[in-house]
Amino acid sequence: MVTEEDRALIAAAEATKNHAHAPFSRYPVGAAVRTSSGHTFTGCNVENASFSLTCCAERVAVFKAVSEGKREIVACAIVTDEAGPIPPCGACRQVLHEFGPEMRIVLGDGAGNVRIMTLSELLPEGFSAAQVLDRKN
Ligand code: THU
Repeated sequence: MVTEEDRALIAAAEATKNHAHAPFSRYPVGAAVRTSSGHTFTGCNVENASFSLTCCAERVAVFKAVSEGKREIVACAIVTDEAGPIPPCGACRQVLHEFGPEMRIVLGDGAGNVRIMTLSELLPEGFSAAQVLDRKN
């Protein structure tokens, strides 16, 4: 079920998509994360003429939240102009996992369609802090 909170997060991601710096791919992406404290942080993809330096929208949003002291992410909305909701790339799934392995993922497309998923569906058995911090060797 798509909730009012989902719609609000999609709207925040949609607005931020307009700031995407995507002259090379022409594939603007907007993201918005909601934290357990109820705050929202947004991000867009930021490309670079040196292509590999590009940062995805989701990671910009996560890093903005963390850099503002909010680390518990409960939901992430991702919006593109494509026909059909697009899930996050593998690298972003892992970064999202660090700050909310159970988070809700809200995917929106250019036509207003919404798909709801969980991060654990997208990244089962993600690598986590416990595997580094609690190791026995
Ligand atoms: N992109 C994102 O922002 N998020 C994703 O999850 C997938 C890809 C961006 C990176 C690049 O600027 C453009 O989309 C095309 O790959």
